[in-house]
Amino acid sequence: MRAKGFVIAIDGTAGTGKSTVGKAVAARLGYGFLSTGEMYRALAYSVFAKQINPEDHDAVLAAARALRFTFARQEDASLKMFVDGEFLGPKLHLEEVGNVASRVSTNAEARRVLTEKMREVGEEGAIVMEGRDIGTVVFPDAEFKFYLDASAEERANRRFKQLQEAGEKPNYDEILRLIQERDYRDKNRAAAPLKPAKDALVIDTSHLTLQQTIDTVLEKLPRHAS
Ligand code: DC
Repeated sequence: MRAKGFVIAIDGTAGTGKSTVGKAVAARLGYGFLSTGEMYRALAYSVFAKQINPEDHDAVLAAARALRFTFARQEDASLKMFVDGEFLGPKLHLEEVGNVASRVSTNAEARRVLTEKMREVGEEGAIVMEGRDIGTVVFPDAEFKFYLDASAEERANRRFKQLQEAGEKPNYDEILRLIQERDYRDKNRAAAPLKPAKDALVIDTSHLTLQQTIDTVLEKLPRHAS
């Protein structure tokens, strides 16, 4: 236990419900919740705005060093992120920004800068942190580590249904292809590749509802965690 509580790491492939599960678990414990992908997206946004080539190692590193993050805890447990005092919100979830985020996140030195910033947020504990390398790199000493996974087909199904419900006409094969591509990129990059920490509990959510996944995580945590 740290000054305020535990660090709970939730890593895993894209589209497994890490954010929803993490937020629910944090709310239950009275902890904060941080989605670290937002920080990579903030770097991407800055790179995009400054018209830096995402492959320009030194310029991306300088952009990472220049980012000033502040966070404000929300009622739903999440930490609302401000970059240089500005809330970027939905702008971070534009398709182009996601694309650049996946490219800048291969820059090992920029990762080190963001990793330090993540540690500052979490060092006192009482936090659920979601990402790709929380249990392996950011907090290898996290008290609890979970790795969520599901078959690519099941994740494509979920995404397909979400888009259909939003009134779009999605193409299942295209969604599946994008998921498989992203898995490959995340798992095969040289810097902090996506993999379960040796001491993480791997949860296959293919046949679980979100609530069942949340309950599986909560069952592993001591009742007095909060
Ligand atoms: O989870 P997300 O889609 O918001 O993440 C955006 C990008 O950031 C994604 O391409 C992977 C990368 N990322 C990472 O490399 N390490 C993390 N801890 C979190 C995200």
